[in-house]
Amino acid sequence: MQPVTLTRYLVEEQRAGRISAELRQLISVVVRACTSISVAVSKGALGGVLGEAGTGNVQGEAQKKLDVISNDILLEANAWGGHLAACASEEMDHAMPVPDEYPHGEFLLLFDPLDGSSNIDVNVSVGTIFSVLRCPKDHVEAPTDADFLQPGRDQVAAGYCIYGPQTMLVLTTGHGTHGFTLDREQGLFVLTHPRMQVPAQTAEFAVNMSNQRHWEPQMQAYVADLLAGRDGPRGKDFNMRWIASMVADVHRILTRGGIFIYPRDTKDPTKAGKLRLMYEANPMGLLIEQAGGLASTGRARILDLPPEQLHQRVPVFIGSREEVEAAERYHAD
Ligand code: AHG
Ligand code: MN
Ligand code: MN
Repeated sequence: MQPVTLTRYLVEEQRAGRISAELRQLISVVVRACTSISVAVSKGALGGVLGEAGTGNVQGEAQKKLDVISNDILLEANAWGGHLAACASEEMDHAMPVPDEYPHGEFLLLFDPLDGSSNIDVNVSVGTIFSVLRCPKDHVEAPTDADFLQPGRDQVAAGYCIYGPQTMLVLTTGHGTHGFTLDREQGLFVLTHPRMQVPAQTAEFAVNMSNQRHWEPQMQAYVADLLAGRDGPRGKDFNMRWIASMVADVHRILTRGGIFIYPRDTKDPTKAGKLRLMYEANPMGLLIEQAGGLASTGRARILDLPPEQLHQRVPVFIGSREEVEAAERYHAD
């Protein structure tokens, strides 16, 4: 049988009435931009793309050259197609409406243009995360930050592209989570991982242990029991992995199970964790739930949170269903 390309997959989803022509076009444009980012990432030092940009973003983080390059590629690709009302990004203080010279469409696009920035210069996997919402109909011509503040369960599509040994797109439009691998010679994404499923149980966790002393007591107790292994209350040995690119850690979990945690800590009491709700936790939450896993703050479903700010942060417990439920039990006490 002929391999199913992303183009064919999207056409068939449209024909089945599961996505509109506009959403198909939007996803195609985002993926084309990700293919360009993949080329830039893979050139590394030869392309002069490594190192610092010398600027900072609204989060107070130093920007890498590839953060800025990836943001520009996504903005340019999505400006003129007529499918979007506005874009919002980790790298921009506020939402950016589509320029007035182009027609405005019904969707809002959020992205983390380059996730895992600390790994760029050391040749470890990084990625792009994106989330698609519907713009309130009467705001399409003049969208603002407030139009983006919708709960994650209202996303019409979410995905990421991972730039690793292979470049892969992992996508959901609310009908399962599907993985596509880039055939670099042909310039095509091919459906290689249909209907991805996160195993319900796991013996693998991912967390930055260097923050342990800053965690809440509930989180301390949960991880202490994981570390106690077979002789502890959990009765089994756990292994640990930490890549420090959320895209790569979540990709591992979608492939073979696990729990990825970035909990609340007291390092900066004004921040409820490190990861951002709108363009990290929500899209990853939808992808994981569509693959049978769970995404929680430890106390509530991430996709049900009512957002208050574009760049708001949130604690994240995401992955294998039974392990996320176990972590939630510690936080219920
Ligand atoms: P970004 O590079 O987009 O700012 O995101 C980095 C995030 C996430 O990808 C990763 O899981 C986490 O930060 C790593 O944080 P540590 O510095 O604690 O390892
Ligand atoms: Mn990120
Ligand atoms: Mn980023």
